[in-house]
Amino acid sequence: MKDTNDWIKIYKGEIYMKIQIIGLGTVGTAQASLSQKFGHETVGYDPKYESHPYCKTNNGLIIDADITFICTPELVVPDVIEHLIEIGYKGLIVIKSTVPSGTTKTISQKFNAHICHNPEFLREKTNLEDVINPSRTVIGECCSEHGEMLKKFYEPLDRPIYVTDPDTSEIIKLVSNSFRAVTITFWNEIAILCNKKSVDVNEVSGMCDSAKLIGEWEGGNWGTRYFLQPYDGKCLPKDIRHLRDAFRSVDENPKLFDACEEFNNKLKNSKNLR
Ligand SMILES: NC(=O)c1ccc[n+]([C@@H]2O[C@H](COP(=O)([O-])OP(=O)(O)OC[C@H]3O[C@@H](n4cnc5c(N)ncnc54)[C@H](O)[C@@H]3O)[C@@H](O)[C@H]2O)c1
Repeated sequence: MKDTNDWIKIYKGEIYMKIQIIGLGTVGTAQASLSQKFGHETVGYDPKYESHPYCKTNNGLIIDADITFICTPELVVPDVIEHLIEIGYKGLIVIKSTVPSGTTKTISQKFNAHICHNPEFLREKTNLEDVINPSRTVIGECCSEHGEMLKKFYEPLDRPIYVTDPDTSEIIKLVSNSFRAVTITFWNEIAILCNKKSVDVNEVSGMCDSAKLIGEWEGGNWGTRYFLQPYDGKCLPKDIRHLRDAFRSVDENPKLFDACEEFNNKLKNSKNLR
């Protein structure tokens, strides 16, 4: 794991930008802390906070930032971008929120604006550590010029950076969370079978390599360490729903994901199963 104090010495002054963070919750706080560590001038706006440990706060949005990261709940992302355009913002807009499939392209076309999508993969409980030690960064670029600018922002992390288009990066984020939801559900369902057959599910999962994936990385109390605990929290339930909506938008029936949600809801509602 990197020592973040080292970075400031190594990287401060190499590139210097004015960074605006909109929405200072779990994701925005982590993004502000990252920007500040890189030595950028970092300002933030969130109606909930008058002050913030990792950035200077403003009463509204500013128009002279080089990059603005939007870290609000996805429902308000279109309004925030509309407001930025209305006040004459000309810098790069980057959506970090987990938006429904197709959002970035639709908003870019509506406002004739350059917007990148840059999904966040951190865990809620360890947001500040995860943001400086990501397994990878994914950039859904609107154009190579802006993709390059965003790459420069993340280069000090010295981690893999994958560049793609926004449609793809949106799907990557939804798939990554849905994969977790399905795997958690997979093991919860296996636990029911094992219990009925008086087989120890811990022994089964312990001797299946794939079982290591879930539970260790997750911040929640689910996975192979917590059999029969439904997945929950702010992200997994809604992100698998966004993925199912994406299937439906192309007239497909996502049977696996529908079954996953149905089983998870059954677990949530039934004490007998747990
Ligand atoms: N929590 C996670 O672990 C996590 C991880 C990856 C991605 N995400 C995604 O990132 C997005 C944000 O999630 P979060 O967990 O940081 O949410 P959060 O609820 O912790 O924070 C969102 C913040 O946005 C602020 N906000 C709401 N409307 C605003 C507006 N119009 N202008 C400025 N600020 C506004 C709220 O006051 C709040 O503080 C979501 O799309 C989420 O799915 C979350």
